[in-house]
Amino acid sequence: MLIAQITDLHMRTPGDKAYGIIDPAAFLAPAVRALNALTPRPDCVLITGDLTDLGRPHEYAVLREHLQALEIPYFLLPGNHDDRAQLRAAFPDHAYLQDGGDFIQYAIENYPLRMLSLDTVVPMKSHGELCQDRLDWLAARLAEQPDRPTLVLMHHPPFLTGIEHMDAIGLLAGAPELERIIARFPNVERVLCGHLHRTIFQRFGGTIASTCPGTAHQLALELGPRPTLQYIMEPPGYQLHWWQGKNLVTHHAVIGDYPGPYPFA
Ligand SMILES: [Fe+2]
Ligand SMILES: [Fe+2]
Repeated sequence: MLIAQITDLHMRTPGDKAYGIIDPAAFLAPAVRALNALTPRPDCVLITGDLTDLGRPHEYAVLREHLQALEIPYFLLPGNHDDRAQLRAAFPDHAYLQDGGDFIQYAIENYPLRMLSLDTVVPMKSHGELCQDRLDWLAARLAEQPDRPTLVLMHHPPFLTGIEHMDAIGLLAGAPELERIIARFPNVERVLCGHLHRTIFQRFGGTIASTCPGTAHQLALELGPRPTLQYIMEPPGYQLHWWQGKNLVTHHAVIGDYPGPYPFA
């Protein structure tokens, strides 16, 4: 099984640039082209939150239009820039979005790897949290199939990254409790996250938690105390997670046109 992960699309209407620089719509088309061109083709694409920049209906409409070009089934997670109601309204055919009550949490059961998606959103806030209800949901789902290889998906990563301005708006509640739950289930193969617009890993609850590059802007690699949080227009990217039945192997890939590939001959 092959899973592509993209994240932090921050969709706005075409030409409506964030901070006067970033035109997210111009970046999503090449991302979709890159995924469609993959051989072997991924079985599904996980889009781990910050789907839109401001959670506005017309941003979801543009997002949907762009994703119609994606020839691979995809699953959407909300991030802190999203609005649950607007997301649900824009994708009424995505039944898994509609079922979670107050939260957009769901299980994807029809692949060799089981996937459990958590909602870390606190409406109108940048940070995330996992309240007892959301943690209980995960614990109950994991208890259903404790021997089946499982991925946990969420927008805010449950660990500190050293990019202090992002850590201040990280998962501010529920991370220790989440780690205790996951530590009880060695069948959790990985915790896949977004939010950081970079690739970062940490050991977590006996598995690995990781973040993924954004499809548009990246966050500057600036550790420690800094006067401000900065973004950088480094090459956008995605991750390709290859499940061969025993372990999950993750490839980091960049989006864009580069010279080659050339044979070594
Ligand atoms: Fe983001
Ligand atoms: Fe985010």
